[in-house]
Amino acid sequence: MTATFPESFLWGTATAAHQVEGGNTQNHYWEWEHAEHSPFAEVSGDACDSYHRWREDLDLVAGSGLGAYRFSLEWSRIEPEEGEVSRAGLDHYRRMVDGCLERGLSPLVTLMHFTTPRWFHADGAWTSPKAADRFARFTETVLPVLADVPYTVTINEPNLAAVLPVLGAMAARGEAIEGLPRPDQRLTDAFLSAHRASTEVLRGAGVTHGLSLVGQEWIVEDGGDDELVAHRAAMEDQFLEVAADGDFVGMQIYSCARIGPDGPVAGDPALMTKAHMEYRPGALGASVRRVSEVLPGTPIVVTENGIATGDDAQRVEFTTEALRSLSAAIADGADVRGYVHWSLLDNFEWFAGYGPTFGLVEVDRQTFVRTPKPSLAWLGGVAQANAV
Ligand code: BGC
Repeated sequence: MTATFPESFLWGTATAAHQVEGGNTQNHYWEWEHAEHSPFAEVSGDACDSYHRWREDLDLVAGSGLGAYRFSLEWSRIEPEEGEVSRAGLDHYRRMVDGCLERGLSPLVTLMHFTTPRWFHADGAWTSPKAADRFARFTETVLPVLADVPYTVTINEPNLAAVLPVLGAMAARGEAIEGLPRPDQRLTDAFLSAHRASTEVLRGAGVTHGLSLVGQEWIVEDGGDDELVAHRAAMEDQFLEVAADGDFVGMQIYSCARIGPDGPVAGDPALMTKAHMEYRPGALGASVRRVSEVLPGTPIVVTENGIATGDDAQRVEFTTEALRSLSAAIADGADVRGYVHWSLLDNFEWFAGYGPTFGLVEVDRQTFVRTPKPSLAWLGGVAQANAV
């Protein structure tokens, strides 16, 4: 059966600066990757060398039939020291936006995708009283990059980033991690005020903006009803409430969360993908349905969805099912404007290094040669047909 999508639906694929650019020596992840007892499986190093090869990347996206490319700005390249703006850094990203437009691609730009300059991190990071002003000033600095950008995301997945210190503390205490615990509230508040400060600048400049959140299909296990409501309020609802002020909300959906009476419960180990997420393609439609009920007036853009697998046929199978669930949610009334697949390239998957492969394109780790997988042409075909 054919599942269809609304007219002028946006189809694209995504990357993030630190995961593909390489050589991001001035951000806090680089420092963390190289620290003694680093929790990273390996360092990011040259990544996919996309800082130099971005034109080739854009050609691959445009050549496949997709119509959009999401990428992020690396704050540490634009403001390497506090208040010191690199014109060359800014120009680089402006050239990328122009490069998208020249190829007929809609650029979706994320201002901050997890990484921050070392100076920002060293001076209190997000919970510093100066953080919101610093992020607002950065937003103002990058306004020239954002002209003609149809969708700007302020912060990537603050609801996941605010969970990381909690996970770190649990790991240090040797506690079992069965799913994502509730986020740290102080960090949550800090992210949300930085988002608001950035939003004010973007709104003043007429830039279409939103927040991107990690979304889940929420599954209640026996006796977990109250816990589910409380957990979801902390992990999703408080963020959605703030996202409601935006022009759109970006949802990034990979899997489900199972909640029992004592919190998250691990899924069936047989269903775990390479990125330790439960194989659950229909989570896409389920999460979008809930978000559209909670935020009825806010358009949704799926800014990430995908699977880490070495089996490209499984990627196509997963995405087909995910898109069917999305199409059904749209048919039932969800206002979804686009779908962006994570990721264009096999890239640096944070703590897991280069092991889990989410890409539509394989990248040789020595030569950086890009080899498209069949899923790239397949997704381009879906975009062209506007149907799956
Ligand atoms: C992040 C990406 C990451 C992907 C897969 C999202 O949480 O935005 O940076 O690579 O999920 O884990």
